[in-house]
Amino acid sequence: MILASINHKGGTGKTVIAQNLAVCYAITGSKVCIVDADPSQNSMRWFDARGEKEPRIPVFSNSNHRTIRRTVEDLYSNEGYDTIIIDSPPSLEKIAGEIISLSHLVLIPISPTGGNDIWSTEQIAEEIERISEEKGQRIPASFVINRLQPNLKVHQMFIEALREHSRVYNINILETMLHLRTAYGMANLYGQGVYEQDDPKAAAEMVNLSNEVLQIFEQL
Ligand SMILES: Nc1ncnc2c1ncn2[C@@H]1O[C@H](COP(=O)(O)OP(=O)(O)OP(=O)(O)O)[C@@H](O)[C@H]1O
Ligand SMILES: [Mg+2]
Repeated sequence: MILASINHKGGTGKTVIAQNLAVCYAITGSKVCIVDADPSQNSMRWFDARGEKEPRIPVFSNSNHRTIRRTVEDLYSNEGYDTIIIDSPPSLEKIAGEIISLSHLVLIPISPTGGNDIWSTEQIAEEIERISEEKGQRIPASFVINRLQPNLKVHQMFIEALREHSRVYNINILETMLHLRTAYGMANLYGQGVYEQDDPKAAAEMVNLSNEVLQIFEQL
């Protein structure tokens, strides 16, 4: 399974979701790696912070739109990785198009903060449509709500607005929503996933997310 964690909007949780899914799948025995396509190299730093901790999750850096496809396909077809998660940069440059085009499933992390977060989904959704047309095949994509604070009125209104976009663009919203929790920041800092932190609610929602994504992939 080749997964993209992508949104040109910055700070929505692309990196944290890539890392946490990688930990969940690695713990269940998959051979997993992350391809860090962001020149700011946050997943590479996470790998350094992880050190010798098991399970090992290699992170390969490639932010070149001309070679990323070859890197990912080589890892998938020749190096035996069964799960590859691409941590994408916050941009809609050519690299984003390549990542969308080569992935089996595109995850779009989104923070329910306000209008800009909704409006930016239009651009990424249109890019997915454009690349799907180019490829002659619909590229499956899902929104992942992250940093949710369910009691905030603005978050409830945001989800309603996103449901409308979801219908228009035929991009579903994953049932599992990730909440705002310090465990995500801590795990991110120490080269871990929340599954490896002491926060059962965070661990449970990440396991749910990893299962939901896997189910979607298996039904493709
Ligand atoms: N659910 C969450 N709860 C608390 N903190 C979170 C959560 N998700 C992400 N964060 C924190 O928010 C910050 C931004 O997350 P992250 O780096 O994953 O976003 P990004 O989309 O990859 O950003 P960029 O566009 O800069 O690559 C990080 O410091 C991360 O630890
Ligand atoms: Mg990032």
